[in-house]
Amino acid sequence: MKQDTTRRQFMQRSTEAVATVAVAAALGRAPLFANDDKPPKVRLGIIGCGGIMTHHVQGLVARREAVSLAWLCDVDPAQIEKMNALVTREFQAAQPKRTSRFEDLIEDKDLDAVIIATPHHWHAPIALAAMQAGKDVYIEKPISHVFNEGLLIIAAAKKYGRVVQQGSQMRSSPMTEKAGQLLQEGIIGKVKVARAWTAETRTIEKPLPDAMPPAGVDYDRWLGPAPQRPFNPQRFHQTWRMFADYGNGEIGDDGIHDLDMAAWGLGIDTLPKQITARGSRMLLDGHASEYPDNMNVTYEYPDGRLLIYENYPFTAYGLHGFDNGNVFYGTEGYMVFSRRGAFSVFLGPKGIPGPTEGKELRGERGYAEHMAEFLNAVRNRTPTRAAAEVAHRSCALVHLAEIAFRTRGRLDFDPVNEKFIDCDEANQLLSKKYRAPFGLPDVV
Ligand SMILES: NC(=O)c1ccc[n+]([C@@H]2O[C@H](COP(=O)([O-])OP(=O)(O)OC[C@H]3O[C@@H](n4cnc5c(N)ncnc54)[C@H](O)[C@@H]3O)[C@@H](O)[C@H]2O)c1
Repeated sequence: MKQDTTRRQFMQRSTEAVATVAVAAALGRAPLFANDDKPPKVRLGIIGCGGIMTHHVQGLVARREAVSLAWLCDVDPAQIEKMNALVTREFQAAQPKRTSRFEDLIEDKDLDAVIIATPHHWHAPIALAAMQAGKDVYIEKPISHVFNEGLLIIAAAKKYGRVVQQGSQMRSSPMTEKAGQLLQEGIIGKVKVARAWTAETRTIEKPLPDAMPPAGVDYDRWLGPAPQRPFNPQRFHQTWRMFADYGNGEIGDDGIHDLDMAAWGLGIDTLPKQITARGSRMLLDGHASEYPDNMNVTYEYPDGRLLIYENYPFTAYGLHGFDNGNVFYGTEGYMVFSRRGAFSVFLGPKGIPGPTEGKELRGERGYAEHMAEFLNAVRNRTPTRAAAEVAHRSCALVHLAEIAFRTRGRLDFDPVNEKFIDCDEANQLLSKKYRAPFGLPDVV
């Protein structure tokens, strides 16, 4: 961007435009920064410089012309240091500003957008504050740690006219586009049931003793809104996933990708009316994890269609040759679809092979396209494929299953009022308590 006034005008235009773009969703996407020879760079800040953010920044190298990284934020200076080395080596010469406080980014009037890739308990507090301050947000999956946070993210995106993209990249894969076209054309008839599975083998780790946090880490901020608890290396970088104060277990880690694609394949635009969830511990018995290591969940939608989710921790060999995936069962056949980037159709009672793609490729996982779509949306004020409502409908599947598992096993849900029917205990788990001073900003 050449002049600040131009940038301000661009962002003001942006805010006004995004509120009116929902209808444009059906019109498809423009290529990145189309018809603009010298577009202003999108000024990005990144929050959480861990595993997936390293992947994102590596991906952004190809977008050097379109993006500048203005800020790096992490509560662990060692993570920032590693990211800074990567950014200045591969991405841009200018060093980004660094901070452990995400507030510094959202107070920066010149920043357009943030990518949030912290553990889940920080997603909503940061995303809501960022949107309130006029930033667009790419939020890693799941956008919410508990159900009600999804509702607030939807409300904030509307109120502040912000672009939201959940990091469910398979939505943007060219493979998904091809499979979606076939489903829309009715190749397998009407899709009645979607099955989703995750077969990720997890290492068995016995509980470790508490310890001192690594030097320089702001552990109080890492905990943030989560309850005070001594530091433990088993609940820190990467390993937080299986602890309910920070993550959502396997179903909210890898499972959310497959649930999201199941909802996509069903073409669902509502929440389920009944959830049945069970789980047990086989391999992870004795593990410090606070989740079952295998789960089996059935969601029934108001029109009677089903989504069935399973995870298998004892094998890396899931169904139909994929460790993660879906089957969409239709009235005329079925489609096997995997977020490893492949699909195959089988038709009629004999399962005669139909169109198939990506068996050898197994690479079109959508990361580059998904990030490009976000940047494009920030620039052109277009909606994204994994906008707040879409993301919430998928994240809700994680939260509703978790609640059903922790309460009665089987619960009825009112998808319109977004409350469980006749179960106060379950309704209380739709939200949670936040440790002061790290609560949610008031956005509604
Ligand atoms: N889309 C995908 O395919 C994919 C893959 C892996 C992870 N993820 C998601 O990405 C997110 C991060 O996962 P990860 O594997 O990178 O975790 P990680 O533990 O490697 O990194 C998280 C980072 O966030 C930092 N952090 C914690 N609290 C912070 C705060 N308040 N402010 C700034 N930084 C803070 C931590 O210090 C750490 O460096 C999660 O939501 C996860 O589910 C998505």
